[in-house]
Amino acid sequence: MLFRNKKVLGLDIGTSSIKLVELDVKKTGVVLNRFAMLQTPDISMAGGEIVDLQPIVSVVQRLIQEVKSNRKNACVGLWGSSVIVKKISIPKMDLKLVPDQVRWEAEQYIPFDISDVNLDYSILDSSKESDVLELLLVAARHEQILKFVEITESSGLNCSHLDINGFALANCFLKNYSVQSEDVVAVLNIGAQYTNFIVLKGKNLIFCRDIPVGGVIYTADVQKTMGISLPEAESLKLSASSQEAVPEEVAQVIQSSHEIFCDEIQGSLDFFHNTTPGTTVSKCYVTGGGSRTPGLIEYMSQALQMPCEPLNPFAKIKYNEKVFNSEYIDQISDFAPVVLGLGLRSVGDE
Ligand SMILES: Nc1ncnc2c1ncn2[C@@H]1O[C@H](COP(=O)(O)OP(=O)(O)OP(=O)(O)O)[C@@H](O)[C@H]1O
Ligand SMILES: [Mg+2]
Repeated sequence: MLFRNKKVLGLDIGTSSIKLVELDVKKTGVVLNRFAMLQTPDISMAGGEIVDLQPIVSVVQRLIQEVKSNRKNACVGLWGSSVIVKKISIPKMDLKLVPDQVRWEAEQYIPFDISDVNLDYSILDSSKESDVLELLLVAARHEQILKFVEITESSGLNCSHLDINGFALANCFLKNYSVQSEDVVAVLNIGAQYTNFIVLKGKNLIFCRDIPVGGVIYTADVQKTMGISLPEAESLKLSASSQEAVPEEVAQVIQSSHEIFCDEIQGSLDFFHNTTPGTTVSKCYVTGGGSRTPGLIEYMSQALQMPCEPLNPFAKIKYNEKVFNSEYIDQISDFAPVVLGLGLRSVGDE
């Protein structure tokens, strides 16, 4: 067999950075063995979409060299506007009939031509009392899927699993936190171009959406206000984050961008509440490189009127202490949750 080792690597191809992990997933616990992360080449992305695959392939090959794993299978996460996740209810029926019904329902709910998408679903609630089946419908455009598969396979890996970044985020969260069945929490992974926004009720994912805002809005606002280049603006933003001296306008811009950012999040939260009556999010866990923006989590707690706290992906997932020290783990922890969730999958795990 070509890919004998059934364990997977997790591969998260972000708009700002690409991450690769190897995890040991055992009944006794999960241990991070390898982690590598490199910047995404600017030329490969435009408007939050992958436009040039080859520069990404080169970076993934460098990550593979760094990680030195003997695994060849990879679980890759899809994201962005080409992926849609939607909770739907259908009349209770023989499970064999569900796929056809889902396809029919998808034609009404999915804003793409149904022949251009791959459809999948998972059953959320099939409790005996209810006369409906609640499903989470997933539609991803073929075009997007092909890009991810091509990048992975051209890099020399086998794309054994395609996941959704929001689902991976949920998996990582659930590996680290104990939840009660009635708890309703949101988890936000604030990247550069997108924020993966999910809501969990107990262990069930009930909402998943990629909101097209992230750390880039801060950088773009610093750039505009200061009249400097994008890389200069990014470096000023990072300096402000590490409490180095920066011009006063930078702090002001960051403050006003918090409002723009949180308005977007509030919009999705309102949408969730309006479409899911009787379910109220009581707490929010925040991660992603963008969550490091100074003052954001405090601002968010006030704006969303609920406790917001950083997600700790190493609350229960352990790391190999021969390979990593705690300072390094602190540095990567905000960038790691999605790729850890991807690395938690194993071949044969559907
Ligand atoms: N210390 C910091 N302070 C503020 N922002 C930061 C800091 N470090 C990283 N960022 C921002 O985090 C973002 C990158 O985070 P991350 O690697 O999670 O994104 P990504 O996964 O590549 O993006 P996406 O998920 O949107 O495709 C960038 O916008 C970057 O400016
Ligand atoms: Mg990301």
